Amino acid sequence: MAIKTVGVIGAGQMGNGIAHVIALGGYDVLLNDIDQDKVKTALATINGNLSRQAASGKISEEDKDKALSRIKAAADYDALGDADLVIEAAVEDETVKRSIFTGLCGSLKPEAMVATNTSSISITRLAASTDRPEKFIGMHFMNPVPVMELVEMIRGIATEDVTFTEAKEFVSALGKTIAVSEDFPGFMVNRILLPMINEAIYTLYEGVGNVRSIDTAMRLGARHPMGPLQLADFIGLDTCLSIMQVLFEGLADSKYRPCPLLVKYVEAGWLGRKTNRGFYDYGGDEPVPTR
Ligand SMILES: NC(=O)c1ccc[n+]([C@@H]2O[C@H](COP(=O)([O-])OP(=O)(O)OC[C@H]3O[C@@H](n4cnc5c(N)ncnc54)[C@H](O)[C@@H]3O)[C@@H](O)[C@H]2O)c1
Repeated sequence: MAIKTVGVIGAGQMGNGIAHVIALGGYDVLLNDIDQDKVKTALATINGNLSRQAASGKISEEDKDKALSRIKAAADYDALGDADLVIEAAVEDETVKRSIFTGLCGSLKPEAMVATNTSSISITRLAASTDRPEKFIGMHFMNPVPVMELVEMIRGIATEDVTFTEAKEFVSALGKTIAVSEDFPGFMVNRILLPMINEAIYTLYEGVGNVRSIDTAMRLGARHPMGPLQLADFIGLDTCLSIMQVLFEGLADSKYRPCPLLVKYVEAGWLGRKTNRGFYDYGGDEPVPTR
């Protein structure tokens, strides 16, 4: 099946990046969010990010204008009826994702594929909440989507070969590199990355170091481009906590227990960059450590 139109559900930091690269790849994009303001903000963010790419010569002004003209807001699931593929990128919460799939499927063409950008949740379980588990895949883009080369691809137990092949061709056509993971909690990237971030938060919690020293240690001592606490803020602390909970419950091993300090930050609504406060305060010109 030729993919021409792609629906994206969830217009947060991942949804706007996914819409951006797909539109730049020449596909029509229908962008949906439960909160219409998020779609407006996402369109403004995509405009800003495409403009930056054009200003630095990575794309032409014409590419930018064409990409922008290809993205349309979709107020509800019926507006996604023309989509050949829908990519779900809403919050990392299994109940929310399942209710999206249950509500969505009746509005789709029978041949449409459905993908999730989940960071950690079972593809097989999410597929079971659709009417088409054979046409369902995990398509895990990395943040920020326009910059990061990798897409982790995961098939559920019912995913048909033809679906997986077509999905991989689509992702390759976006210029991304694919790493195939089995359907285990956190897949590959977050199975490895999140326990490290959680350990950095324990290191802070136990007073081994402060925010700045932990991030400096890992940037200069392990050559990480970003410190783990800076990265946690970038990912979103709510997403980090959800992934740790999925690892903890799914792998039933106490080594994955979320750090209580991470839980507290999320309870406080300090979710990182997206709320202007996490392990750093982003209210001023420069991020200021909060501990
Ligand atoms: N943040 C990262 O670094 C990262 C990387 C890879 C994958 N992911 C995954 O991508 C997904 C989105 O993460 P994000 O960082 O963009 O989160 P975000 O908080 O920036 O955005 C989530 C969006 O989902 C919307 N939403 C909530 N319920 C919805 C519903 N029922 N229908 C439609 N939209 C709904 C919210 O309004 C919000 O705009 C999560 O599954 C996350 O695990 C995140």
